[in-house]
Amino acid sequence: MDVSIRAANVEDCKDIARMIMELSEYENIADQMKVTQRDLEQDGFSKNPFFHGVVAEVPEQHKTKEGHTKIGYALYFYSYSSFSGRAVYMEDLYVMPEFRGKGIGKALMSNVAQLGLAAGCNQLNFSVLDWNKPSLDFYISQGSVDITASMGYHHMRCEGEALQHLAQP
Ligand SMILES: CC(C)(COP(=O)(O)OP(=O)(O)OC[C@H]1O[C@@H](n2cnc3c(N)ncnc32)[C@H](O)[C@@H]1OP(=O)(O)O)[C@@H](O)C(=O)NCCC(=O)NCCS
Repeated sequence: MDVSIRAANVEDCKDIARMIMELSEYENIADQMKVTQRDLEQDGFSKNPFFHGVVAEVPEQHKTKEGHTKIGYALYFYSYSSFSGRAVYMEDLYVMPEFRGKGIGKALMSNVAQLGLAAGCNQLNFSVLDWNKPSLDFYISQGSVDITASMGYHHMRCEGEALQHLAQP
C-alpha cells in the first residue's frame, strides 16, 4: 500500500487528537485523556513548539469506512541526557488496527530515528506499559532494549496538587 510518512502540520491536529483518544482506549486510560485538538494546535504549532509529529497517510482509495486517511502518528520532542547528550523522546506511536502489520509503525518510528540522528541525538527514548506485550515485542524487534529490566529505571511523575505544592517557594 502506498503510505506517506510526513511531518505533521496544524491541519492534522483533529486526526491526531482522534488517534490519541483511540490509543488511550487501547491502553485503558481514556479517562486520563485531557489534551484537546486546540491544545495540540497551540502546543505543537506555535513559535516554540513543545512537541513535533509525524503522520502516516493513505490515499483516498484506502480510507477507513469512517473516511479517515490519516491512520497513524508519532509524537516526539528533544531532550538531553547528562550522560550521553542529545536525545529524542518518542511520546506516542500508533497505527489504526486495520493498518497494523504492514510496516507503517516501523516507518513512523524510523522517521523519528532519522530526525533524531539528523539533530545530533544518540538515543531514542520512550516508555511502554508492562502489559503491552505486542508493542514491547515490536520495539525489541526494532533493536530497542528494555532499560527498566536491564538498568532498574523507574518512570517517576509529580503532578496535580503534589506539583503545585512542590512549586511553592
Ligand atoms: C506497535 C505498533 C505501532 C506497531 O505498528 P505496526 O504497523 O503494526 O508494525 P509494523 O508492521 O511496522 O511492524 C514492523 C516490524 O515489527 C515486527 N512486529 C510487529 N509487531 C510485532 C510483535 N508483536 N512481535 C514481534 N514483532 C513484531 C514485524 O514483524 C515487522 O518486522 P519486519 O520489519 O522484520 O518485517 C502498532 O501495533 C500499534 O499501534 N499498536 C497499538 C498502540 C500501541 O501499543 N502503541 C505503542 C504505545 S507505547
